[in-house]
Amino acid sequence: MAKDGIDGTGRPATAELLGGRYRLDELIGRGGMAAVWRATDIEFQRQVAVKRLHARHVDDAEFAERFRREARVVARLSHSHLVRMLDAGDDESGPYLVLELVEGETLKQRLARLGPLDPSEAARIVAQVADALDYAHGQGIVHRDIKSQNVLLSNDGTAKLADFGIARLLEADAEPSLTQTDMMVGSADYIAPEQAEGGVIDARTDIYSLGIVLYEALVGRLPFAGEGFVAVAVKHVNETLPDPREISSSVPAGLAAVAMRAAAKEPDDRFPDAASMAAALRGDARGATAVHPLGVLGSATTTRARRRAARSSRAAKGIAAALSVIALVAAGIAGMTLLGGDDVPEQPALEPIAIAAVSDLDPEGDGSERPDLTAFALGAEGAWTSERYASADFGNLGKTGVGLVLSLDRPSEVRELRLTSPSDGAAFSVLGPAGAGGERGRLGGGRTAAGAQVVPLSEAPPVEELVLWFTELAPAEDGGFAAAVEQVRVRGVANPNG
Ligand SMILES: Nc1ncnc2c1ncn2[C@@H]1O[C@H](COP(=O)(O)OP(=O)(O)O)[C@@H](O)[C@H]1O
Ligand SMILES: [Mg+2]
Repeated sequence: MAKDGIDGTGRPATAELLGGRYRLDELIGRGGMAAVWRATDIEFQRQVAVKRLHARHVDDAEFAERFRREARVVARLSHSHLVRMLDAGDDESGPYLVLELVEGETLKQRLARLGPLDPSEAARIVAQVADALDYAHGQGIVHRDIKSQNVLLSNDGTAKLADFGIARLLEADAEPSLTQTDMMVGSADYIAPEQAEGGVIDARTDIYSLGIVLYEALVGRLPFAGEGFVAVAVKHVNETLPDPREISSSVPAGLAAVAMRAAAKEPDDRFPDAASMAAALRGDARGATAVHPLGVLGSATTTRARRRAARSSRAAKGIAAALSVIALVAAGIAGMTLLGGDDVPEQPALEPIAIAAVSDLDPEGDGSERPDLTAFALGAEGAWTSERYASADFGNLGKTGVGLVLSLDRPSEVRELRLTSPSDGAAFSVLGPAGAGGERGRLGGGRTAAGAQVVPLSEAPPVEELVLWFTELAPAEDGGFAAAVEQVRVRGVANPNG
């Protein structure tokens, strides 16, 4: 990425010593809760990783407490496939963890870079994570956020499980299984049915998510996709995991069977513990019989029968209620407002509205905002990034915003904007076309969440143009502040008479 920042050095703005000892050198990762830096421990002259709560959560007591809880959980764990904690502290910028630095990439990044893993490599990596999980479970801790972003692959080939940010002690089951904050940092892509339904969470919940990770590693993509948190969570509750071999015939039957058994809907149909899953992945005798294709077939049938029984006995309303709580929270993440109703909101029949062109907008500045990068917002590999500013509110340039003009293919009633963004926390509005007085009406907005998000737009007459208007920037990876868009899409009802 070009380093054309205001300071021009590409150095991170934060050069202070954390805890009098750790120099933050480079931002190397971000999750829903925290940013992770490569840092130097001045005292021991070694490289470490420093995990800090995102600035916007520092004043949030629940997030800060969760972060301290992660420190307490990780402090009692020590395993070769778990990221080790070296130190923890609190300073004026909030709590932080000092972790063993894993030089390499996440499993998610590896899959994005190289596509599906070689089956034996997938089995090896997932078995190591299963070992780590088995150990954590033995310590009474459920991870609850197993996903490929939290599996770190070091350059020497070792897998290490990271991020106990929403981990929980098994005994503490009196509380609801997922709090609002959990949902905000958790992901629907790997969510176990019982987790989506607000049911009882145990070690097998992690085994389910690890089954999805295995599927993803074998096939190169996730099994269940959809628009938004609820749509994906509903699929985890209702749809059987497809056989990975249907998508990729080169996946060995044994491994496909391990993924399907791990991700069985009913916890009883999964591996009873992570050690059995690891054994099955390594193909040892115990595991091999456990995953004999016929055995799996049998258990799938049982699952179906049980699910049917469960479905009729469990009040459908209960599921809907649990999911609508998730929906509300998911809506909160994207800073959107739900239209109301107690049930899972029904998707109106929306169709994609093609965007014919994207152009840059900087009316209060020099009139241009990285016009060379606008094509990226239409989906080319990469991102449109605004210029780099000294602060989230455009330094002292006195601007209220910068943005992108989206010219639609034809006049359409727009209902949703799908925004894929590399970073969290930039505030934006979605504006309609300029009225007679030059002002634009606001149809929706929120804050960016790294990844894809759906922004509902309020009903309005057909428009031919939308403006994505950033009013507050997010910290940029290599210093300064910027807004960035990997892709923007619009859905709605195209007006055939327009
Ligand atoms: N010890 C580490 N060494 C190297 N990179 C790390 C380490 N811990 C985390 N990361 C990177 O930072 C990202 C976010 O860290 P994570 O602990 O998952 O935070 P969050 O709780 O916000 O999800 C990870 O996905 C990974 O890319
Ligand atoms: Mg994470």
